[in-house]
Amino acid sequence: MEKLENRFYIRTYGCQMNKYDSDIVKTLFLREDFEDVSTPEEADYILLNTCAVREHAEKRVIGRLNSLKGLKKRRPEIIVGVLGCMAKELPDLINHPVVDFLAPPDSYRNLVQWLKARKRGLIPEDKNEQYSNIFISTNKISNYLSITRGCNYFCSYCIVPYTRGSIRSRPPDEILKETENLVNSGTREITLLGQNINAYYYKGVDFPGILKRVSKIKGVKRLNFLTSHPKDIPDNLFPVMAGHKNITNYLHLPLQSGSDRILSRMNRDYTIQNYISIINRARKMMPNLTLTTDILVGFPGEKEEDFIETLQAVRKIRFDQSYMFAYSERKGTLAALFNDKVEEKIKKERLQRLIKVQNKVTEEKTRALKGSEMEILIVGEAKKGGKLGKSRNGRIIITNGVAKIGSVYIVNINKVNGWVPIGKIKKEV
Ligand code: 5AD
Ligand code: SF4
Repeated sequence: MEKLENRFYIRTYGCQMNKYDSDIVKTLFLREDFEDVSTPEEADYILLNTCAVREHAEKRVIGRLNSLKGLKKRRPEIIVGVLGCMAKELPDLINHPVVDFLAPPDSYRNLVQWLKARKRGLIPEDKNEQYSNIFISTNKISNYLSITRGCNYFCSYCIVPYTRGSIRSRPPDEILKETENLVNSGTREITLLGQNINAYYYKGVDFPGILKRVSKIKGVKRLNFLTSHPKDIPDNLFPVMAGHKNITNYLHLPLQSGSDRILSRMNRDYTIQNYISIINRARKMMPNLTLTTDILVGFPGEKEEDFIETLQAVRKIRFDQSYMFAYSERKGTLAALFNDKVEEKIKKERLQRLIKVQNKVTEEKTRALKGSEMEILIVGEAKKGGKLGKSRNGRIIITNGVAKIGSVYIVNINKVNGWVPIGKIKKEV
């Protein structure tokens, strides 16, 4: 039998929180002298960090596991692990022919030690885990930083409270130390993460409080946060966003539905009118606010008239972009017990209609940027040439290839390619 060496490959599916968690796992493996490789073929440990939020996400992972059967046959010594939300949600995956271990979201701290000790199967979780004092190693210019883990809200469609457990807020000192570490290793853009980030609370420090403190750390040029819940936007959040130059005027605020009846069945705890008042308040303080949302269609009991209300809300609110999904039943959630399900065909058709309405708004809003001036931080290379910049309201702008990563420029938006605004450099700031 061939010797098992210390090369690992990690692939991440799903949300930003998963990307951050993969950075934690990577950091822990690198600390134990493991080597990060970029293909499963080169690896001794293959780690898939998975998402359970919709069936489609799960199917992709199962497909990937099936495609590893040949490799595992040729090299039976390799170890394959399922990490993340599917490891928690689908314990039967341990019986899949290529799977050696399951590591749910709160089990990563001792994962390397478990594996070194040749332990397999279900890795135990610590439900109070906050990944304190790990401090991810990264050389990227943009990084995530999780300030809470878990969620207590139980929206009736959502699996996350079951896979990620109840909310835990990290101590401010630790968040500030992690920010300093990131800045010292070259990070210029930070995105604070939490499933319901506005619920952050630690010994008198609330979300606007921690946001303000992180923004004061020198070297943080762009500060974003994800994801907000409309039911707990504190009064002082928008003044803090508007009053600190490096906090992006960008808000991702999931609407989910434009129908009060459906919102109530979703257990969202706000009405469309509440939502609109929040947006009006935000736009008053930040006229250039970039607003994005999540919308779910085909929730059980959604009638044509409820869906029309969603279309009307999209036309009225004019989101810069929406992430739009067909409802996917998740076993164990409350909504899975509702018996007035919407037919797959209708869900798909509604999704297409919604996408069409939103695309029109996105196009109009993007085109309206033409002729404006923006200050952008260069965060990376654009796929089709040029550099990617991030504006002070969280917009992605493409600019000339000579721009230096990490530098800030004033650009004129002189063209829009599809949905991508192109900026011509006026001067470096
Ligand atoms: N089906 C479809 N979409 C879902 N989301 C969460 N749960 C489900 C589900 N069961 C969407 C919501 C959420 C986003 C992260 O994923 O819109 O805001
Ligand atoms: Fe993220 Fe939710 Fe998917 Fe888990 S289930 S990876 S928390 S989106």
